[in-house]
Amino acid sequence: MDINKILSEMTLEEKAEMCSGSSFWYTQSVERLGVPAVMMCDGPHGLRKQKGAADHLGINESIETVSYPTGPALAASFDRDVLRKLGEAIGEECQAENVAMLLGPGVNIKRSPLCGRNFEYFSEDPYLTGELAASFVESLQEKGVAACVKHYAGNEQETLRMSSDTIVDERTLHEIYLSPFEATVKKGKARSIMSSYNAINGSFVAECKKMLTDVLREKWGFDGFVVTDWGGVQDRVKGLRAGLDLEMPGGNPDAAVRIVKAVQDGTLEESVLDKAVLNMLTFVKRSITKRQPDTNIDRDANLKLAAELEKECAVLLKNDNAMLPIKKSSKVAYIGEFAKKPRYQGSGSSYINVPNLVGAYDAANNLSITYAQGFRANDSETDATLLDEAIKVAKESDVAVLFVGLPNSYESEGLDRSHIDMPANQNILINAIATVQPNTIVVMHTGSPVTMPWIDKVSAVLCVYLGGANVGTATNALLFGDANPSGKVAESWPIRLEDTSAYLNFPGHEGVVEYREGIYVGYRYYDKKRMDMLFPFGHGLSYTKFSYSDLKVSNSKISDEDEITVTCKVKNVGDVPGKEAVQLYIGNPQDGVQRPVRELRDFAKVSLKPGEEKQVSFTLGKRAFAYYEPKINDWNMETGTYTIDIGASSRDIRLSVAIEVESTTELPIVFTRNTPMAYLQKTAKGRALAEQMTAKRQQAQSDSSASDHLGEGSKEMVEAMVREAPLKFMCSFGGVSIEQLDAMIEMLNS
Ligand code: GLC
Repeated sequence: MDINKILSEMTLEEKAEMCSGSSFWYTQSVERLGVPAVMMCDGPHGLRKQKGAADHLGINESIETVSYPTGPALAASFDRDVLRKLGEAIGEECQAENVAMLLGPGVNIKRSPLCGRNFEYFSEDPYLTGELAASFVESLQEKGVAACVKHYAGNEQETLRMSSDTIVDERTLHEIYLSPFEATVKKGKARSIMSSYNAINGSFVAECKKMLTDVLREKWGFDGFVVTDWGGVQDRVKGLRAGLDLEMPGGNPDAAVRIVKAVQDGTLEESVLDKAVLNMLTFVKRSITKRQPDTNIDRDANLKLAAELEKECAVLLKNDNAMLPIKKSSKVAYIGEFAKKPRYQGSGSSYINVPNLVGAYDAANNLSITYAQGFRANDSETDATLLDEAIKVAKESDVAVLFVGLPNSYESEGLDRSHIDMPANQNILINAIATVQPNTIVVMHTGSPVTMPWIDKVSAVLCVYLGGANVGTATNALLFGDANPSGKVAESWPIRLEDTSAYLNFPGHEGVVEYREGIYVGYRYYDKKRMDMLFPFGHGLSYTKFSYSDLKVSNSKISDEDEITVTCKVKNVGDVPGKEAVQLYIGNPQDGVQRPVRELRDFAKVSLKPGEEKQVSFTLGKRAFAYYEPKINDWNMETGTYTIDIGASSRDIRLSVAIEVESTTELPIVFTRNTPMAYLQKTAKGRALAEQMTAKRQQAQSDSSASDHLGEGSKEMVEAMVREAPLKFMCSFGGVSIEQLDAMIEMLNS
């Protein structure tokens, strides 16, 4: 398929039509030139392929298949291999179903636990999100299926998402919200990016050149194609100029007509249109060449895989007195509707048609378990009969396991949460059971954090998040010790909603949402404010214990071009095999540029038998120590003393070592008459001038008794006032003329 030849033979109308879909899920074909239409479908945690009526909200029927653990569960694995395995499985299914692109992963950041779509996204941390998403993208694309990373960008809420304007400062935008996309482009080589519905700082992303060309293509080297979210186009011609290649869904004839008209009347250069068409033809060509039509999939094997992955994702949040694992000889009660019909995925475009959902009760067929419904998931009212029955069953058992969580109506695409509480009837049930049964365990099915007013009354909490179609099998294995939980929460669990950093600015007002918390999202905020929480980022327990030792660094001083190798040892000091998500944080200097206390910069999942010890190795470059500096539109590593902190969570740092960083980057400063004197120290010329002035001032002081306007003041006060005095003070107090001052400023800025 010679795409340049095809382009040269296409009519203007055919080119214009190529920039819109031909239907809800297909690109445009050009039959006479042998260009087929290719299909794209949602993900991100299963294949939602609609054969009949189509929609982007999970309403119409899609093929029966397997759904896997969703975003927060996958992220809790802290395991790149888990995401690779998922990408392979879904990639094969796409090949078997002749789907050329999966609309996923979703990498928006969990700015607030209130976002209705958090169940679909990974984390509050951009590094973890980017690394895991890049692993998924790589393995999906190795199967010849394009990934379409979404929703680029600034779409961290559902409220008014299709028209809202995200107001965010440049540093926060890059450091927190863009860097996951950057990782999927640079590391994952993503073939497609989905532009979000919303605007950023007044400019709709779907027609924003800065986002779609300057950042995405020129800065990051993206060479794929950009597709709108469904119905997310703004001005189609302006979008083409900005770097938007494809409008979806298809079926809007006006788009092509307007593109043709714009080319004909000279307001759109045909070369711009040709670039978009070439991007689309490249995608179609790659889909054809990488097509594997004889791919067969075994949905039974995939259902087993779903359980295997969930075993790596579930998080043991609490386990007092080693309540878990449960002895198989125990008399166990499974209480709660979710024991039979677990919530395992979220509503909306990611909704997978699962014919054989496996709940824990039905999957526990070889164990003696009594069931009581306890509550109705689609109701928040307590049913006294169900409650009484559950209490009776709990009393008669050795252990009561409560299967609870958020019903579908509490979190979904298109709708944000207004609180983070569980349904009242479930909280009442949990309290009632814990009152009569000291051995009470809670299994939590949720797509995002919830408050736990009963946390001190229960012995253990296992969070399975939304664990996919086979969550029941995985839950049983974890509860009875056939598998050892190793997940760690990829988001902070606050004690109450009011503690969250976005609380005062979510979801904004009349479609404008200001990210006023800046970079202080999630643990970055709680650590800076030294706040307590229910469970900190990176927290997760195991049925065994791990010790950390022997932290070593290849060099204790680095500069911009250097790399540093960090090693440490992790040992399983318990008596069952387990896996540990070892986290590497960089502790930032707190006396320079505003920085979070520490930031996750690498992680590794280590599998250890009892008594086994392994060395873990990390390699860090400048980016690990850097923040995004708008003055240079790039990442900057500031000179100072940092620490490398190895942790079992963000609040459980086991090893730490200081690292001296010497930056060779001099940030540009434009001096003015009001630039503080202290800023002279930031440039070579400024330092030279400061030295001259100091010598002069000392000479002047020895000639005359010092008189000043400061009166009696502390040494600190005087130093501060001199340091922060604007350069123009040299005219008022240093005998310098305004012309001399301006000449100095010109020299400094030259
Ligand atoms: C939806 C979602 C997007 C999805 C698309 C197609 O509106 O925002 O994630 O991929 O439309 O269903």
